Amino acid sequence: MSTRRPASTEELSAILAEASTSATPVIMVGGGTGLAGATEPDAGEIVISTDHLTQLGAVDPVTAQVTAGAGVTLASLNRHAREAGFEFPLDLGARDSATVGGMAGTNAGGALAWRFGSMRQLVAGVEAVLADGSVIGSLTGLSKDNAGYSLTGLLVGSEGTLAAISALRLSLVPRMDSRATALVKTATIADAVALMAHLRSNCPDLIACDFVHSRALRLSADRIAVRPPLPSEDGWFAVVELGAPSGDLLPQLTSALESANRVVATAIAADADQRAAIWKVRDALTEACDATGNEHKLDIAVPVNRLAELETAIRAAIESTGGSQDDAMIWGHLADGNVHLAPLFGLAGDDQLELKILEAVSELEGSIAAEHGVGRDRLELIGLSRSDAELKAMAAIRKALDPKGILASGRAVPR
Ligand code: LAC
Ligand code: ZN
Repeated sequence: MSTRRPASTEELSAILAEASTSATPVIMVGGGTGLAGATEPDAGEIVISTDHLTQLGAVDPVTAQVTAGAGVTLASLNRHAREAGFEFPLDLGARDSATVGGMAGTNAGGALAWRFGSMRQLVAGVEAVLADGSVIGSLTGLSKDNAGYSLTGLLVGSEGTLAAISALRLSLVPRMDSRATALVKTATIADAVALMAHLRSNCPDLIACDFVHSRALRLSADRIAVRPPLPSEDGWFAVVELGAPSGDLLPQLTSALESANRVVATAIAADADQRAAIWKVRDALTEACDATGNEHKLDIAVPVNRLAELETAIRAAIESTGGSQDDAMIWGHLADGNVHLAPLFGLAGDDQLELKILEAVSELEGSIAAEHGVGRDRLELIGLSRSDAELKAMAAIRKALDPKGILASGRAVPR
């Protein structure tokens, strides 16, 4: 394994042309914050790090767009956008290390995706290098451009299997300086879904509605020694946020929460510190689970109105494989039906449990790879979410763009 660090599209192109000639496999690596094991290199694979592809263009206030190199982190993109009065409306706990190239590769989502879209909706253009070194794409940011297939749409979410993304044209929104944030407890996940639907109907400025099971909330809060604003006995906690460029959002949030049914307790953040404390606990979940030694997680989605059935199926699978319910860390993004699950008693090595849960996801017409991609970890089981005909179509696209099979080999979709 050798690591290359191109600082320009030309250098990236030269590396790929050389790899193509020698038929050497390559893997593009961004911040390494995904959950699907995609960026662990194989022996003999060239690792292409994007950490020198960090150019950031000026924010264009007319189009509300900016051009960023693949290696720009989400946090630095947002600092840059905010200075110009805008922001990139996609947020993740891993914002300091996740890169826009990696996020485009996996079509990352996060807490705001239900409202502003995942990466695919926010990418206005892609520049990328094909396996043979040729450069394709456009960073002009045209919002209407139907001349042929959307290569932008195809490359976003292709996990580095079709081309190496070098730069992106990204859509921004006006900076949301006003926020109102609350932690809201419900007894069941079905009640949390009902709360989300109620807030979505009654709060035009709702931007986030994540959820965390009490057990996961405690693990995360203990890990970072931050006390959540509500006692964390058994139940479900919704992390609710309203955002807008200006205005006081508290009346909107307060009145919507007052008229919500089946809410057990509510804590509205009174200031920026209290708001930060709620998000700190929510954002430390991955780190808290990793710190227990089990870095294995599922990233699944079901139609939102089937989340309660998914919880029942998860609990049944844990029961039948002899695990402890108390060790099942569950959290996610309510409006997307997107669940992250880290059973601390060991999903790694317990293929039976993983298979049972993913089969249940498939029966519930869900996805076994929601916002972190397929990577290596889910490749064998992709058939639970895609038909044979679909997989054949994907393999044909992959072969057409990368005939020698050098890009992200053994990941994402079968060849
Ligand atoms: C989260 C990451 C794991 O939502 O997607 O915490
Ligand atoms: Zn997530």
